[in-house]
Amino acid sequence: MTDLRTDLDDLRSTARERLAASTTAEGIEALRHDLLGRSGRLTMLLRQLGSVSVEIRPAFGQLANEIRRELEAAIESRLDVLRSGDLDARLADETLDMSAPGRPMRIGHLHPILTTMRDLREIFHAYGFEVFEGPEIETEEYNFELLNIPPDHPARDLWDTLFVAEPGTAESGPPRPAADGTILRTHTSPVQVRAMRELQPPIRVITPGRCFRYEAVDASHSFEFFQIEGLVVDRDTSLADLKGMLEEIARALYGREVRTRFRPGYYPFTEPSVAFDIGCLVCGGEGCPACKRSGWMTILGAGMVHPTVLRNGGFDPDEFQGYAFGMGPDRMTMLRHGIGDIRLFFSADLRFVTQFAEGR
Ligand code: PHE
Repeated sequence: MTDLRTDLDDLRSTARERLAASTTAEGIEALRHDLLGRSGRLTMLLRQLGSVSVEIRPAFGQLANEIRRELEAAIESRLDVLRSGDLDARLADETLDMSAPGRPMRIGHLHPILTTMRDLREIFHAYGFEVFEGPEIETEEYNFELLNIPPDHPARDLWDTLFVAEPGTAESGPPRPAADGTILRTHTSPVQVRAMRELQPPIRVITPGRCFRYEAVDASHSFEFFQIEGLVVDRDTSLADLKGMLEEIARALYGREVRTRFRPGYYPFTEPSVAFDIGCLVCGGEGCPACKRSGWMTILGAGMVHPTVLRNGGFDPDEFQGYAFGMGPDRMTMLRHGIGDIRLFFSADLRFVTQFAEGR
């Protein structure tokens, strides 16, 4: 009997020690299981009660229950202490210093080509032009046919076209151009007909956007580039209006001293057609590699809208005339900043683009 008593006392004191030494909630739970669980030490000792004489059995039972209650209470209070300790530690850890200064944020800025395009939009806006956009994925009909470039006409070779492909299969062989004539637009001119079909004269629109050509990339060519198309349709519109407008745009963008010239050009959708050059701003007109030693740089093609195109847009050429131009903001940006290689624009090199951050 005394053995059981010793065991119980022993259990009580070792349990107290182990509890005091436990520093984690998991450790305490393990201890609880070890002492009070179904095959825990106290449970085991209670099983021996049967062998104790009937007179003293209740006293032992009482003692055992007392120990159980005591241990349970001690375990709970130890857990409480640990939990609040945890909380204190976390609160200390997660303290926010509300008075600390903010971290500086890196703010982006417009790409230099987009800045040129925005400036052009503002300039055109002052002359009453509104923005009219068209799709980058076009049909051959809008990109060519409606612009007076029939299928198989040699003029189509002026635009190296990227075709949207039908996927190849074992039966059909390698991928080939989509049967519905879907292509990536090679210029923004298809939007001329889209605008004419949607708007009423007088029409004054610009169409900024991306174009795509199957080009070998070099210092002045990219397979992806921007254009800004311009279209005016009205009564009594003449080549003189076109020339005056383009000279104004050049002066607004490059300053009043800029030199300009018109040369004859050829496009199937304008008649007559012109090319518009400005005096090279890299060399001041002396001749340099950027202007191929000519002293001039071509920044756009233009002309009077061809009667066939006017008809395709729904207008009677005897009643309405118009002019159109297609300018290249990439090249115009190169001229603006004296940038010698178009590939820099798409190089994703922050050392290059961040030079154009000021004021934006
Ligand atoms: N679309 C022509 C090109 O990309 C440029 C152009 C536009 C010419 C409008 C005349 C009129 O080459």
